[in-house]
Amino acid sequence: MKHVLSARQFSKKELTDLFAKTDLLYKIFNSPGGRQKLLKKHRGRTLAALFYEPSTRTRMSFEAAAHCLGLSTLSTENALEFLSAKKGESIQDTARVLSNYADVIIIRHPGTDTVDEATLTSKAAIINAGDGKNEHPTQALLDLYTIKKEKGVINGLKIGIIGELFHSRTLHSLVYILANYDVEFFLISPKDIKLPSNYTEYLRSKGKGFHETESLDKVITKLDVIYINRVQRERHENQKTAGPSRYVIKLDSLKRIKPDAIIMNPLPRVDEIDPQVDTDPRAAYFRQAENGLFVRMALLDKVLSDNT
Ligand code: NCD
Repeated sequence: MKHVLSARQFSKKELTDLFAKTDLLYKIFNSPGGRQKLLKKHRGRTLAALFYEPSTRTRMSFEAAAHCLGLSTLSTENALEFLSAKKGESIQDTARVLSNYADVIIIRHPGTDTVDEATLTSKAAIINAGDGKNEHPTQALLDLYTIKKEKGVINGLKIGIIGELFHSRTLHSLVYILANYDVEFFLISPKDIKLPSNYTEYLRSKGKGFHETESLDKVITKLDVIYINRVQRERHENQKTAGPSRYVIKLDSLKRIKPDAIIMNPLPRVDEIDPQVDTDPRAAYFRQAENGLFVRMALLDKVLSDNT
């Protein structure tokens, strides 16, 4: 594997191997002397993180994962302002030059083609950390890992994907990655921000069953996974559609969901999950974010080993 651009590129076998690696790294990390051992894994190699959009978890967990594996990091937030993009430099030139300084380059960008364009000139592996409203494949990896860890299995689950499905790159990648398994999709959103047809076409082409509905109330009792995302306000031109979340998980909802269901969210959580829900054992979103460190460690280990 050279670059990581889309959740579609992962086969079931690659996912199984990646998650076995994640479990192993977690075990080593938490064993006596394990952290010292991990530091030797990729000492002398470098990760560059170019973030042209805000990020809390993705950038920090990638950098933390890199440090745990002994890599050095070069990092810029607010790259539209701080890199020469500000002066009109193309991503192809930026990637060409920076790939002399780093073995792997993580990029988050508001454009939907920009991360792909970086691969045209980069000698280093490129990892898509979110390209506009398109995809966020590494989030899907940690989401799938979390589902597997929390539920024990993936096949047979009824998965509710709820809220803003139109601009949610995390959910686009999640749909792609879950299409490797036999799950039943419940796509729950207002009609004006429903999942774009290229994703439902993809599910059809893979023979996957899905239901589309506007009513969370009608299906919430059936769901094994309740995956809700915030309204992607920054991507809406029309302020009417950018209003508050039309679905909210609150204390009352907890009475109706399955006792062994899990509630997920890529974070940041804004108004779609009441903070009072956080102490319920079914609230998995902070465990999900914690898993990000180990899944990204495993991914970096794989990409660096594949590109030695
Ligand atoms: C997501 C993103 O940036 O797309 N955040 C993340 O990486 N966990 C989700 C979001 O912002 O809604």
